[in-house]
Amino acid sequence: MTPKILPAILLPGLLISGMVKAQIIYEEDVQPIFNEHCTVCHGGTSGVSLGSYDQVMSSVGDQYGEDIVIAGEPDESPLVDKIEANPRYGVRMPQGGPYLSDEEISLIRQWIEEGAHESPPTRIADREEIPGRFELRGNYPNPFNPITTVRFYLPRPASWSLTVYTASGSYVWEDSGWSGAGEVAIPVNLDALSSGTYIYVVEMRADQTTHARLSGRMTLLK
Ligand code: HEC
Repeated sequence: MTPKILPAILLPGLLISGMVKAQIIYEEDVQPIFNEHCTVCHGGTSGVSLGSYDQVMSSVGDQYGEDIVIAGEPDESPLVDKIEANPRYGVRMPQGGPYLSDEEISLIRQWIEEGAHESPPTRIADREEIPGRFELRGNYPNPFNPITTVRFYLPRPASWSLTVYTASGSYVWEDSGWSGAGEVAIPVNLDALSSGTYIYVVEMRADQTTHARLSGRMTLLK
C-alpha cells in the first residue's frame, strides 16, 4: 500500500502542537519572574521562599495559614492573592512595588490553573511519538459468525490497512483506506472460512516517520 497524504491533512496535528506549546514550563516561564521581582526578599529558606520550585510548593503563608500555591485553584492560592490588588492580608507584592505586569500575573495564574506542574505532563516531544496513541479497540462480536467489526483509534489522519491471517500465518482477508483522526470501525466477513482463531493486524501510516502496527485475535464460530 502506498499512502498518499496531502500536506493539508497534517494541519490538525500542527494545531495540537501549538496548543501544547502554550503550556507553562515552570523553570522557563515562572521562576524567572520570582528571580526578578521576589527573591531579593523571599530568597531565604524560612518563611515564604521563592528560590526554586520545591521551595515555592512547600511555602506556607503565615497570615493565610495555608500553602501559597493550591494546584488548579488560582483564585484560592495566596500567591495569586498577594500579587493582585487589595490582598486579603498585608500589602500587595512585591512590597513597595513596582507590581507585576498583567502578563506576568496571568502567566502565574495559568501555571496554577494547569496544575502547578514543574513541567507540563505532555511536552511536544511526547506528542510527536504518535504511534503510542494509536489504539486497537478490539472486535465485536467475538466469537462471531460470519461478520465482526474491528475498531481502532487514529490519533491523526492516516492511511490504514486491516489484514486477517489464520493462526498459522496464512493471509485470508484485507481491507485498507484513509480516515481522519478518530475511531474507525471496519466490518470483517469471514463467511468463506471455517471455525477457528484468526489474527488481525491493523497498520497506520500518517507520514514517512509516523507509522505503527497493532494486532489482535478473533474467533470465528460456525
Ligand atoms: C521588598 C521585599 C519584598 C519583595 C520584593 C516581595 N515580598 Fe512578599 N513579602 C514581604 C514581606 C515583608 C511580607 C510579609 C508582610 C505581608 O504579608 O504583607 C511578604 C509576604 C508575602 C507572602 C505571604 C503572605 C503570608 O501569608 O504571610 C507572599 C505569598 C508573598 N510575599 C509573595 C511575594 C511574591 C510572589 C513576590 C514577588 C512577585 C514578593 N512577595 C516580593 C516582602 C517582599
